[in-house]
Amino acid sequence: VTCWCDSVGSKMQISSVVASPGRLLQLCISTLCCVLTSVFSKVRRWTAGTCKGTASPVSPADSRPDEGEAQTPTSVNYHFTRKCNYKCGFCFHTAKTSFVLPLEEAKSGLRLLKESGMEKINFSGGEPFLHEKGDFLGKLVQFCKQDLQLPSVSIVSNGSMIRENWFQKYGDHLDILAISCDSFDEATNQLIGRAQGRKSHLDNLYKIRDWCQQYKVAFKLNSVINTFNVDEDMTESITELGPVRWKVFQCLLIDGENAGEEALREAERFVISEQQFQEFLDRHSSVSCLVPESNEKMRNSYLILDEYMRFLDCREGRKDPSKSILDVGVKEAIRFSGFDEKMFLKRGGKYVWSKADMKLEW
Ligand SMILES: C[S@@+](CC[C@H](N)C(=O)[O-])C[C@H]1O[C@@H](n2cnc3c(N)ncnc32)[C@H](O)[C@@H]1O
Ligand code: SF4
Repeated sequence: VTCWCDSVGSKMQISSVVASPGRLLQLCISTLCCVLTSVFSKVRRWTAGTCKGTASPVSPADSRPDEGEAQTPTSVNYHFTRKCNYKCGFCFHTAKTSFVLPLEEAKSGLRLLKESGMEKINFSGGEPFLHEKGDFLGKLVQFCKQDLQLPSVSIVSNGSMIRENWFQKYGDHLDILAISCDSFDEATNQLIGRAQGRKSHLDNLYKIRDWCQQYKVAFKLNSVINTFNVDEDMTESITELGPVRWKVFQCLLIDGENAGEEALREAERFVISEQQFQEFLDRHSSVSCLVPESNEKMRNSYLILDEYMRFLDCREGRKDPSKSILDVGVKEAIRFSGFDEKMFLKRGGKYVWSKADMKLEW
């Protein structure tokens, strides 16, 4: 019996002579599972638009005029899960669904992106180390480096779920690990919600910095500047940690995520002015790895893929989804991404992003 199951993207040939009715039954069940998983995921993607709080069946983005020249998805941020174990009060990518694509479909989408010119992938969330205890993420990281041979594979994480054995298993395939830390005062992290229960966020941070050195992964830091940390001086701690890059974001509001009626978070009380942001930057002017990102720079300069592999257009101050690249292809979906390549270049989106090209002392 030769049975083909190509519904999950990778053609799997089960070519063996079935020796017993039991084996035949086993084969039929696994083929059925395969088909059902794929159909289920397609239906979830398809119905995603009809759910409360997300796009309508014909998404708002669909009614926009053609955006002209096809764009290249050079650097993509794939938020494959929205689930998280932290409760940061300003979070702009909230747990609106618990959906995660099956691994093979996620890989198919990543392959499509590579064929369209992707050079850098960043895995984000939600908390990317939560799903399957980081194994799902590890498999994607390995696939992107080994199979797709992407120059840069990176992750943004809150750091709380990372274990040393993850580095042992997958560290080789990872270029950059960014850990988010908004304060070097535990009480402030607690106030922000950047913590799980009473566990120390900072202990994890230092442990991960050491593992990054040990397993040769470039260590990066992300901080969101908001009303709770805007007066802090982080110079000493950042210098001690020595990240390759320190991204400093001005807290951003996104309608439907952390602002507005349907949002799961209310981040208005975290928002700071341009002037407050500038004062924070001035206080840290001696930190050479600092890369500032104002609201204006952030809004349109990221190519964001959600859990259904839909591009999210943030131009209108909310996240309007395109159709999934798995349904319409990259070229069609990216027209509705709102991506501003000029702003991407202006914010320094293209930098030395392969660890092989970094002059690091491991
Ligand atoms: C949504 S998180 C997902 C990854 C992971 N859970 C983490 O916190 O690092 C990705 C990045 O966005 C940042 N972020 C979250 N909400 C933000 C906001 N309102 N404005 C600016 N940056 C924000 C986070 O601090 C983090 O560096
Ligand atoms: S910003 Fe905070 S709440 Fe949002 S995904 Fe990251 S850790 Fe979770």
